[in-house]
Amino acid sequence: MFSANTYARRREQLMHQVGRGLILLMGNEYSPKNYLDNTFPFRQDSNFLYYIGLDHAHLAAILDTETGETVLFGDELTIEDIVWMGPQDSLKDQAQNVGIREVQDYDLLVEVLRAANKQNRAIHFLPPYRSENKINLAYWLHLPLLDIHKEASPTLIKAIVAQRSVKTAEEIAEMEKALVTTKAMYLAAMKQTKPGVKEAQLAGIAEGIAVAGGGDLAYPIILTINGQVLHNHHHHNILKSGQLVLADMGAESSMHYAADITRTWPVDATFTQRQKEIYQIVLDAQLAGIAASRPGVRNLDVHFAAAKVITNGLKSLGLLIGDTDEIIQAGAHALFFPHGLGHMIGLDVHDMEDLGESYVGYTEGLERSTQFGLKSLRMARELQPGFVMTIEPGIYFIPQLIDMWQAEGRFSQFINYPALQAYRDFSGVRIEDDVLVTPDEPRVLGPGIPKEIGEIEALRS
Ligand code: GLY
Ligand code: MN
Ligand code: MN
Repeated sequence: MFSANTYARRREQLMHQVGRGLILLMGNEYSPKNYLDNTFPFRQDSNFLYYIGLDHAHLAAILDTETGETVLFGDELTIEDIVWMGPQDSLKDQAQNVGIREVQDYDLLVEVLRAANKQNRAIHFLPPYRSENKINLAYWLHLPLLDIHKEASPTLIKAIVAQRSVKTAEEIAEMEKALVTTKAMYLAAMKQTKPGVKEAQLAGIAEGIAVAGGGDLAYPIILTINGQVLHNHHHHNILKSGQLVLADMGAESSMHYAADITRTWPVDATFTQRQKEIYQIVLDAQLAGIAASRPGVRNLDVHFAAAKVITNGLKSLGLLIGDTDEIIQAGAHALFFPHGLGHMIGLDVHDMEDLGESYVGYTEGLERSTQFGLKSLRMARELQPGFVMTIEPGIYFIPQLIDMWQAEGRFSQFINYPALQAYRDFSGVRIEDDVLVTPDEPRVLGPGIPKEIGEIEALRS
């Protein structure tokens, strides 16, 4: 964990920003998988990690903006806990390590909240995404369970988004640790790729490296010969000569900072000529997106910079026809690039998505588009130094989408449907890196994971 000072300063800044009332931060509980004691792996809430730093279940904190004090609520260790889970620091000592002096029993939390309610003190809380926390909040505050997210505090959400968006040097260092592990995951998966190997074998090797790295996966692995299926978590295919492998995977550091990387490589030692052509367009689009990621530039315009390279590249192959800007404005290129260029990353792989994408990625006057493709852009607002963004363009050939658009005659002035037939079984290419916005040059974080065609072929041979 970081120093007590780091957590104390973060809380101070948050209390100052929120200005009045109490701030309630809830940690996560264990969540049952198939019976009560067989739980999903525990993952602490990221806001709780950011402000409180303690990484175990059944904790909450109240920050009093008027006194500046933080109280931690949790249950002190019993001999039973030690018998089943081994010796641990007392909760009091753990609290001290993160700069908190006052610890109270978890059961007292409801009384403190109800007393504050009686005194008409504002209680700011975040939109809960776990059932356990939704139920607790509804019970504690006498709020309707199903609409509980509507009662969350926009003031608190905005203050947290502003604070967590700008990463400090110690946070960047954690993300780079996750990227070192992620590089090892990629090198192993790339080296073990050959015809006859199962997708599941490669995914298993990569997951093992993430766990051995001292953290875990930041999100479920995508590793597939069907890269055109965007969120494809099936790993049941056997690799065949001539196919491409698309892997989207990243480790979490032991402090839960995420990496999010995508690479695409051939099952054979080399790319085919057609694979190279599409791959190089995606790589050029990614490099254009990275170069455009500068302070004061809207991420929407970074997205368009990459879309332009993709559109021009597909025009050069004869798959798109017409004026580049008109194609992009109409959204015709989204047949090939149907998602956004990227998102913020930090403690969450889609950073702060629990707080609401509209707060993280959009501002007043910058509404989310409803156009196919662009509507999936998670972040459009202006970049600032300290933001870490993923840059992840792709080109995909989705037979069902091609057939549907062709049958509708959609954008037939821009899309060369007859020429597209030869690409029906191409699958897809995506390349993704995590990029720090700085006052000067954008910095691709991590130790550098091969992505030039020559580098990948050298590894594969
Ligand atoms: N790994 C999920 C994403 O790239 O957004
Ligand atoms: Mn990804
Ligand atoms: Mn991503």
